[in-house]
Amino acid sequence: MKALNKNVKVLVIGAGAMGSGIAHVAARAGHTVYLYDGRPEAVQSGCAGIDKDLRYLVAKGRLPEAEAQAILARVLPVAALDEARDAGLAIEAIVENLDVKQALFRDLEALLGEDAILASNTSSLSITAMAAGLTRPGRFAGLHFFNPAPRMALVEIVSGLATERAIADTLHATARAWGKIPVHAKSTPGFIVNRVARPYYAEALRVLAEKAAEPQTLDAILREGCGFAMGPFELMDLIGHDVNFAVTRSVFEAYFNDRRFAPSLIQQELVFAGRLGRKSGHGFYDYAEGAVKPPA
Ligand code: NAI
Repeated sequence: MKALNKNVKVLVIGAGAMGSGIAHVAARAGHTVYLYDGRPEAVQSGCAGIDKDLRYLVAKGRLPEAEAQAILARVLPVAALDEARDAGLAIEAIVENLDVKQALFRDLEALLGEDAILASNTSSLSITAMAAGLTRPGRFAGLHFFNPAPRMALVEIVSGLATERAIADTLHATARAWGKIPVHAKSTPGFIVNRVARPYYAEALRVLAEKAAEPQTLDAILREGCGFAMGPFELMDLIGHDVNFAVTRSVFEAYFNDRRFAPSLIQQELVFAGRLGRKSGHGFYDYAEGAVKPPA
């Protein structure tokens, strides 16, 4: 199966951590990318984030300046979805909420051409459920990037019950053409990685609840002693507690409240307090200027 042609325009909805990273990846692969968010200021900061990442690559000598400028020029901020009617692939990276995502996909299906492919970057929600109510559910799949999208190689291509095999294969080939390592997955709660990773967070939160070890200690043990790239607390701070808590709840509920996947009150309290991790400047660690941070 062939990857989408570079002249296919990509619409990314949600310009937060994931959407801006996905826009970066698609633009770097040569596509024109429309970037939309319900909050216009998020599109601005998403574009600024892409620019910052590109500047870093130029400074490290990994990307020529002219190419960085060309990539940034391919990312077109849009103030309304109907400015992106000619997109052939729409990738959604908005809030992890089934109802909100379903409503968006119904709008997208009405707006875009019949040949367009619709994809969700959801971490955990059912692709089958999200496609219900669409006129062309066969052209809908999960396209699950990992954080940060420009740096993480893996992409899960998630098929729901109605996803056509040719669509999953096209997305697989496209992710590979974008320099990623794609894997096919099925629409099960958390798919592959987020299912296997749940205990990494859940057990660490239980250790903390029992006061068996502090976040700094456990992160250092797992990172330096066991070879994990990041400890569980610094990783949750990177993901964002709002996102991680929503994913945990969704997997827990989808497995009919299986206690193995139970959410943590500690994380719920962080969400209530707005301590969402790096993005809000405070989570398990303090990211304010001059504070002691976990290693980058
Ligand atoms: P984020 O909170 O950084 O960004 C979400 C953006 O979506 C915000 O800018 C918000 O204004 C916008 N938004 C919310 N509802 C909208 C709507 N109805 N229409 C248009 N824009 C809307 O969230 P993040 O971390 O980028 O996550 C987005 C999605 O990606 C979620 O489904 C999440 O589960 C998934 N994901 C997150 C990962 C992570 O590590 N944070 C990793 C992989 C997937």
